[in-house]
Amino acid sequence: MMEIIKDIYYVGVDDHQIDLFEGQYRVPNGMSYNSYVIMDDKIAILDTVDFKCKDEWLNNIRSILKDKLPDYLVVQHMESDHSANIMSLLEIYPDITIVGNALTFKMINQFFDVKIKNKIVVKEYDILNLGSHKLNFVFAPMVHWPEVMMSYDEKSKAFFSADAFGKFGALDCKDDWVTEARRYYIGIVGKYGRQVQDLFKKISSLEVETILPLHGPMILHDIKKFINYYNIWSSYKPEKDGIVIAYCSIYGHTKAAVHRLVKELISQGYTEVSCYDLARTDLSLVVSEAFKYSKLVLATPTYNSGVFPFMQDFLTRLKERNFKNRTIGIIENGSWAPLANKVIRLELADNDLNYLEPVVTINSKLNEASEALIRSLCMELIK
Ligand code: FEO
Repeated sequence: MMEIIKDIYYVGVDDHQIDLFEGQYRVPNGMSYNSYVIMDDKIAILDTVDFKCKDEWLNNIRSILKDKLPDYLVVQHMESDHSANIMSLLEIYPDITIVGNALTFKMINQFFDVKIKNKIVVKEYDILNLGSHKLNFVFAPMVHWPEVMMSYDEKSKAFFSADAFGKFGALDCKDDWVTEARRYYIGIVGKYGRQVQDLFKKISSLEVETILPLHGPMILHDIKKFINYYNIWSSYKPEKDGIVIAYCSIYGHTKAAVHRLVKELISQGYTEVSCYDLARTDLSLVVSEAFKYSKLVLATPTYNSGVFPFMQDFLTRLKERNFKNRTIGIIENGSWAPLANKVIRLELADNDLNYLEPVVTINSKLNEASEALIRSLCMELIK
């Protein structure tokens, strides 16, 4: 626990036992569930934590409150990594008032099947007066659930951003913010870029000096840098010019074609290239890399009249997250009926993508004709 800004304390927890966040994202460096206490004339707790971290979290709260009683629990987000301990808190502090919006309370009923005794149902821009601190509620539907609301404190200029500006990894791990924040954002909120842009419009007039998310480090400096990343990600623009090659290979022939393309690119002096075997790489990482760069090459065998299963999974993830504004190259392999080019275009038909010619079609393994196509694709990619 620590005082982050005057009167505002961190009471969250690190979780190093978790293997898959939201049941699907690998988190080798764990996860943090952030929670905050504002000590003022009235005492407010902002959000609870994952259920398995209950005891540590309650101890953190007690160590800040000592013999005082909290007045409010502000529920910004009802996903269970933040809401699971609402009842645990009510058991200890039965008179606490729960603060949420109409949808928050609908979800509380669904999750806990209980009638809340003391509650304040807020509307957007309502203010919760704690004394010198006043929380102004900004609704942020679908960032990342429909009930999400964020809180701005004018006195401290702190913006409590719920899931936004979070990242994978516990607070005590030393990893690169942007890599794990990008993987987190694209994975979890990537579909909702428009809603993130709507949020930015709403908060553009606020003077924000500190961002306090529900995961990952508190952002105390260089706010503009972090907002700039979110602006790029939510507007589906690439961060950098560069090529990601995502491939599947069964017996190594498609992989050999990919290696040939990489060799050609490097021989042309183009080195901003990264290459991922989709069967052997965490797909959430490859998806986030595809969002980072401007060009994506998809290389896959044809399989059961479609693409190889890992490629199918990858395409589904891109499609779900509105992947667009990128240039696409295709390498397809098929011994009797290569179909990958057709299937990829059909899968991503609703996405705004620029397909390069030529498509490299391989019949079983590279030959003179397909090697020539790879050289042509290389020249198109580096134009
Ligand atoms: Fe961290 Fe959408 O929950």
